[in-house]
Amino acid sequence: MSVYEAIQKRRSIRSYKNRPIEQEKLDRILEAARQAPSASNRQEWRFVIVRDEAVRHSLMAAAGNQGFVGEAPVVIACCAETDGHIMRCGQQSYPIDVAIAAEHIALAAAEEGLGTCWIGAFSEPEVKEILGIPASVRVVQLPTLGYAGAPPGPRLRKPLKEIACYDRWALG
Ligand SMILES: Cc1cc2nc3c(=O)[nH]c(=O)nc-3n(C[C@H](O)[C@H](O)[C@H](O)COP(=O)(O)O)c2cc1C
Repeated sequence: MSVYEAIQKRRSIRSYKNRPIEQEKLDRILEAARQAPSASNRQEWRFVIVRDEAVRHSLMAAAGNQGFVGEAPVVIACCAETDGHIMRCGQQSYPIDVAIAAEHIALAAAEEGLGTCWIGAFSEPEVKEILGIPASVRVVQLPTLGYAGAPPGPRLRKPLKEIACYDRWALG
């Protein structure tokens, strides 16, 4: 599968089969996250891979009872052990770095025939409590991972001309 094919195939999957993920697939997906770029190669990301059903159900509750969070066989808490480094552009590096690693996870999962869904709607204090994550560590994303139970709806995107221009700002 080409990168372009993986990008097209990746969709937010909100329904999962009751089927475990093979460890080799999980290993390759986590290796894809490990290979992600990061600001000054800081690699602040940390991952808690949750397979335990009771823990996944607790995470579902912490994610506003989004049912598929409990249904997916794996939920990955994408965290950052960070000193709050700010880049010269004024942006904090850790959410960007963790987001890139999480997208590596999503694209590698697509290559492995697995679905994912980014979860940003969750209570960070509750997730930390459930997983025993230290106070100093931030939880950035909580993607679900598993075999898709139902296909996603149509892909809705703005046309390119509304989001990109050449040489100078020329967008509405
Ligand atoms: C940062 C971020 C947070 C998101 N949080 C949630 C979420 O909490 N629940 C959910 O169902 N989808 C969530 N999504 C998925 C988006 O709704 C989805 O990516 C968007 O509708 C486009 O659909 P697609 O991923 O199938 O292309 C999130 C996506 C991103 C990038």
